Amino acid sequence: MNFAKTIAERRTIRKFKDETVPFELLNTLLKQASSLWKSEEQSHWRCVYYESAASRLRLAESMFAKVTGSQLGKFIPSKLTDFLTKSVLSTPVHLVFIAESAANRRQCDENYAAVCSIMQNLQLLGWENGLGMLWYTDPMLNYPSFFNEIGLKVGEKFAGILNIGYFDRSPKARKRTPAEQNWTEFMTDTKPRINTNDHYVSSPDILEIVNIAVWAPNDGLREPWRFIYVTDPESVAKLQPSPANTSPSFLIVVAKKEADPHKQEEDYAAVCCLIQNFQLLASCKGWYVRRTIPEWVYERRLPIPLNLDPQERTLAVLEVGTAEQIPSSSSTPSTLNVIRL
Ligand SMILES: Cc1cc2nc3c(=O)[nH]c(=O)nc-3n(C[C@H](O)[C@H](O)[C@H](O)COP(=O)(O)O)c2cc1C
Repeated sequence: MNFAKTIAERRTIRKFKDETVPFELLNTLLKQASSLWKSEEQSHWRCVYYESAASRLRLAESMFAKVTGSQLGKFIPSKLTDFLTKSVLSTPVHLVFIAESAANRRQCDENYAAVCSIMQNLQLLGWENGLGMLWYTDPMLNYPSFFNEIGLKVGEKFAGILNIGYFDRSPKARKRTPAEQNWTEFMTDTKPRINTNDHYVSSPDILEIVNIAVWAPNDGLREPWRFIYVTDPESVAKLQPSPANTSPSFLIVVAKKEADPHKQEEDYAAVCCLIQNFQLLASCKGWYVRRTIPEWVYERRLPIPLNLDPQERTLAVLEVGTAEQIPSSSSTPSTLNVIRL
């Protein structure tokens, strides 16, 4: 796949053709999507596949129960609920994605990052195969009837529904902000890097692929991300996970903290899609990217003075270098857990 082209050209599709999407195709794409996710940690997630008319009708009813069951519900014309139900039934497949529970916050975030990244991979692979998708997370879904229907357990996180189908027309792209406008290069001194052959990737080269990665899906086009590129050896040494490593540089991705928790979750998901795009593009360049969520992210004790706004939080730290420098790390495959309804 030409990742750069697919990442930039993929569009959210909201209207589908009345054409069956074969389960075998989607299952194969889901396996590929899962294998494109590289992490040193085991992640736990599952996917519920709504395909039969009966299961999709049940899903539609559970999705609208918050509205129809409310005080105002009796004033909502049945025409509107019929229309909403029809829109669900005219979507060939719904895949519901769930990040499973974990022992601590960091592992919960790992599971959520895994599921969001795999959803993005699936959108890209689908696009290559003529399939359009909509990532759907309306706040209306935040209701017990929906969570019961999808089998969400305590401690688990609903990541979104992917509405999937073949389509006739793709909407026009809505512009993204150039990454340069959200970019800071962190330096504690002005000394140039002494060794020019130390597997470090220059900021113009990184920016080139970040400018493609920003074509990630993101709700309300909030583009919640900001980038801090750390290249000076003193700061790089402080960010290194272990003293034995000789990391060339770090790209730190931070996001604005929305007051609304629903938007905050969506923004986290969007940043995960952007990072996944970045990892795919970097692998085409022959660079390595090691993505981590260090403990200091939660303690808010930054190892270097990043001067974050109080309304910002660090979502991921990416160690970037050229391939000859690949650190001794193993990638743990993600297990595929699909429930077909
Ligand atoms: C986490 C997440 C949640 C989203 N939720 C919705 C949604 O509920 N409804 C919707 O119409 N689009 C939703 N979207 C899709 C965005 O609206 C879409 O990505 C954005 O408009 C940019 O369009 P593009 O994907 O074609 O580039 C969501 C996207 C993400 C990543």
